[in-house]
Amino acid sequence: CFIGIDLGTSTCKTLALDAEGNVVAKANADYPLVTPRAGWAEQDPELWWRAADETMRAVLARLEGWRVQAIGLTGQMHGLVPLDAADEVIRPAMLWCDQRAAPQCDTITERVGGLDALLALTNNRMLPGFTGGKFLWMAEHEPDAFARMHRFLNPKDYLRLRMTGVHATDVSDASGTGLFDVRRRKWSADLLAVVGLTEAHTPTVFESSEVTSGLSTDAAKLWGLPPGLPVVAGGGDAVMQTTSQGVVEPGSIGLTIGTAGIVGGAARTCPDNRGGLIQVSCGNAPDRWHVMGVSLNAGGSFQWLRETLEPLMGGELFFDQLAALAISTPPGSDGLLFLPYLMGERCPDIAADGRGAWVGLTRRHGAGHMARAVMEGVLFNMRAILDLFAEAGLTGGRLRASGGATASRIWLELLADVTGRPVATVAGASEGGAFGAALLAGVGAERWRTLDEAVKVVAETAPIQPDPARASLYDAMHPIYKTLYPALQATFS
Ligand code: XUL
Repeated sequence: CFIGIDLGTSTCKTLALDAEGNVVAKANADYPLVTPRAGWAEQDPELWWRAADETMRAVLARLEGWRVQAIGLTGQMHGLVPLDAADEVIRPAMLWCDQRAAPQCDTITERVGGLDALLALTNNRMLPGFTGGKFLWMAEHEPDAFARMHRFLNPKDYLRLRMTGVHATDVSDASGTGLFDVRRRKWSADLLAVVGLTEAHTPTVFESSEVTSGLSTDAAKLWGLPPGLPVVAGGGDAVMQTTSQGVVEPGSIGLTIGTAGIVGGAARTCPDNRGGLIQVSCGNAPDRWHVMGVSLNAGGSFQWLRETLEPLMGGELFFDQLAALAISTPPGSDGLLFLPYLMGERCPDIAADGRGAWVGLTRRHGAGHMARAVMEGVLFNMRAILDLFAEAGLTGGRLRASGGATASRIWLELLADVTGRPVATVAGASEGGAFGAALLAGVGAERWRTLDEAVKVVAETAPIQPDPARASLYDAMHPIYKTLYPALQATFS
């Protein structure tokens, strides 16, 4: 069997797949997120290692009679693990959701000659969560620690170091540092220099399905596995989520509706990220790129409404009840629109200052209309990301959906209607990145020749087709929805 380890932001999830892609064992272990100051987010890599060790032991205990053939890694992207010359962690890891380096990201953009020059080098903005700004922050605020930094690693690659003793990463996670030339799949010497680094500080980069190294004697002894057992490069979790949906070939587009919403697609040539409105990274297959738009406001907006209404209901209010109340009102919510930017926004608008709004309220509107407008607003926002994808050349018609909200038929039908596209769900995607990491382990162990072959095990449900009348109503409403943020922006600052 093949093992995938997903080092998330709050949980490490490990699972094992058989040669047909069925999950045969899985285990989770949690660790805390530390916020020493508002906007900061840190974790102690030692706790990651302990959680990985705990989940590996739990999974291996359920694998009696199985032969583990390879391990694949995935995990939270954009985190900085700084190591000294003895591979000791110098300070707690700064995570993807740490906002402290926003000013340093602006400095980096200025130093390379502005946004267009930056996009020419890496094909991505330097977003505040990306690793790049964190180096400059360290150099400015913790110069001694920065001077002692011998190398850096991404979070999942710290597990690899503990498992195999090797400093390595994969092209998709390297892309998320903001220091990687995504078009050419190699470090950008210019960007490394701008943050005071050289290639000597970087981990060696591999394609996602390549074997980076084998289990060390110590790790092998710890887990009762053979020394030298192959560990494959793997990938960043957001990219791997799309791989778990089986989307590695241009055509389908993956959509994950959790608290946040992720739209992800594959391309055979590297699309130009005009204006830096989306994220472009190297894909988990060697000749593919991954295009992504992350909205900070998806299921979270609906969750907010549920929490707000529940105390008024005199009892528990379940998601399904609220969704049923929503669709008891007419499509289009009788002209009520909702802008879901409750958390600010990253995509389709870069709107750190964003706020939410209901627009068009009348005496005729009730709680059901408001709930429906929230669902429609969230999905219009996903559709706006699909429009950005189309501008980048990703026009794939079908959607593969996963994430909490997609357990509900109501959400899936509304997604089909609002986007005008068929929507299917897929089996492995509910397991998240660990599933894709295990498939890559299978490619590394030569169970499958390529990732394209491996993802054939991802079974798709019969797609839900959009209802033509509702879809044409939403076609007409979408351009109006898109005027909301530009029209309201001045009121938010
Ligand atoms: C991707 C992103 C998150 C993190 C945490 O750009 O910021 O998905 O990888 O999971």
